[in-house]
Amino acid sequence: ATAKNIAIDGPVASGKTSVGLSLADRLGYLFLDTGVMYRAAAWAAVEAGLDIDDEQAVSDLTAKIKIEIMKPSAADGRSNDIFVDGQDVTWEIRKDYVNNNVSQISTYKQVRKVLTEQQRLFGQRGSVVMVGRDIGTVVLPDADLKVFLIASVEERARRRYNEDKQRKGSADYQQILDNMIQRDKTDSSRAVAPLVAAKDAVEIVTDGKSKDEVVEEIYQLALKKG
Ligand code: C5P
Repeated sequence: ATAKNIAIDGPVASGKTSVGLSLADRLGYLFLDTGVMYRAAAWAAVEAGLDIDDEQAVSDLTAKIKIEIMKPSAADGRSNDIFVDGQDVTWEIRKDYVNNNVSQISTYKQVRKVLTEQQRLFGQRGSVVMVGRDIGTVVLPDADLKVFLIASVEERARRRYNEDKQRKGSADYQQILDNMIQRDKTDSSRAVAPLVAAKDAVEIVTDGKSKDEVVEEIYQLALKKG
């Protein structure tokens, strides 16, 4: 037997999504990247023309929108198709104006409460690989296996830069690095559900390791947890 639910947390571009997706595939588990939900909420707030600092307005809107995470419709690097109130925002939520606002709205207590509830419902199905910042600590504290991925900020910025290059983007390495340092800071220092490893999480340093090596490591841990 294998672990029922697996929580994978870590900072921006620590490899959570690609590792989690591949692991879920190998185990035949469902995959949920919780980051897309915060991104979807940030996108909706910008789209509605809200003042991002207006905690109440952003929280109310987050409670109202319907976020749908569907099977990927194309094999172009997306892990899922993301819809907000029926509108496809899969690529929109990866853009800079979302990157620059998402950590801010992620500090709002009510925003986290609403999205955490939706994530827990998903986890109740079992056989789920869920990735984010607070999965092992807050969302699924009873997860059978918790993993915390670590990588230096330079390595993580390089990964994002290379991903963007593959998509023929025009991203600037320094800008990615600066944005990442800023997001790390906001995510780690916020009062509600800050980015920290759960006490019972297995920490894996991924610098210099391939995705497959990390997946194999977690897969072996999952087998032992049955
Ligand atoms: O993982 P990703 O970079 O897509 O997440 C975007 C942002 O969403 C993070 O910078 C963080 O502020 C927020 N987030 C969060 N809790 C989660 C997942 C994401 O606060 N479980």
